[in-house]
Amino acid sequence: MSGFARLFVVLAVLALAVSVRGSDDQSVLAAMEEHGVVPDVIDTAPTDKVEVTYGLLSASLGNELTPTQVKDIPSVHWKADDGSYYLLCMTDPDAPSRANPVRREFRHWLVGNIPGDKVDQGETLTEYVGSGPPKDSGLHRYVFLAYKQPGKISYEEPRINNTSRDTRPNFSIKAFALKYNLGNPVAGNFFQAQYDDYVPTLHAQFSGH
Ligand SMILES: *[C@@H]1O[C@H](CO)[C@@H](O)[C@H](O)[C@H]1NC(C)=O
Ligand SMILES: *[C@@H]1O[C@H](CO)[C@@H](O)[C@H](O)[C@H]1NC(C)=O
Ligand SMILES: *[C@@H]1O[C@H](CO)[C@@H](O)[C@H](O)[C@H]1NC(C)=O
Repeated sequence: MSGFARLFVVLAVLALAVSVRGSDDQSVLAAMEEHGVVPDVIDTAPTDKVEVTYGLLSASLGNELTPTQVKDIPSVHWKADDGSYYLLCMTDPDAPSRANPVRREFRHWLVGNIPGDKVDQGETLTEYVGSGPPKDSGLHRYVFLAYKQPGKISYEEPRINNTSRDTRPNFSIKAFALKYNLGNPVAGNFFQAQYDDYVPTLHAQFSGH
């Protein structure tokens, strides 16, 4: 082989290695295993990333954000087929704390029948509420998962608005996905948050229910 041919082979192998490593697969899987999202929330990590942005901030596989920063509904995208429906979930397995998660999971957001990744055109089953980790309960993980539905689904769960805690605790996205035959999530992401002084405001939103 000439010097040029050898160089070409070396470059091609490098390019292949970079393109394989550069896909989301490794990082979502590795981060979800490292932070125990697998197995605390799901058994099998997704391959793609859900892009979650709160203004200029974003979730990035376990970074820390504050309840103040995530109080408003985020913008969410993932690699979706236009012709398919998806379910999007945001869930906290660390309720009331990661050390003692007896009310695992607390459901923050659930939207079904989303055409592609157009979340605002989906059917909101549980309205978005931001992170409200109790004082001194440490860091909680807030996990976003997108599931591809087998078709349009008639969800029988009661609709929960953002002033109601009803049925939010003791949720299991794994059991929900099983019930509706959603398979494993196709995309995911998560951030972590601990108490800050916005939390009492969020909890007051639930008063009366
Ligand atoms: C959640 O589950 C725990 C433990 O099983 C139970 O003690 C608690 O009452 C449940 N809470 C709600 C709101 O269902
Ligand atoms: C939110 O849900 C609660 C409990 O179902 C209900 O009492 C309340 O009227 C709802 N609020 C709005 C703004 O729809
Ligand atoms: C609660 O939901 C309503 C209706 O979807 C929305 O207008 C309002 O901004 C939400 N409130 C908070 C505090 O998120």
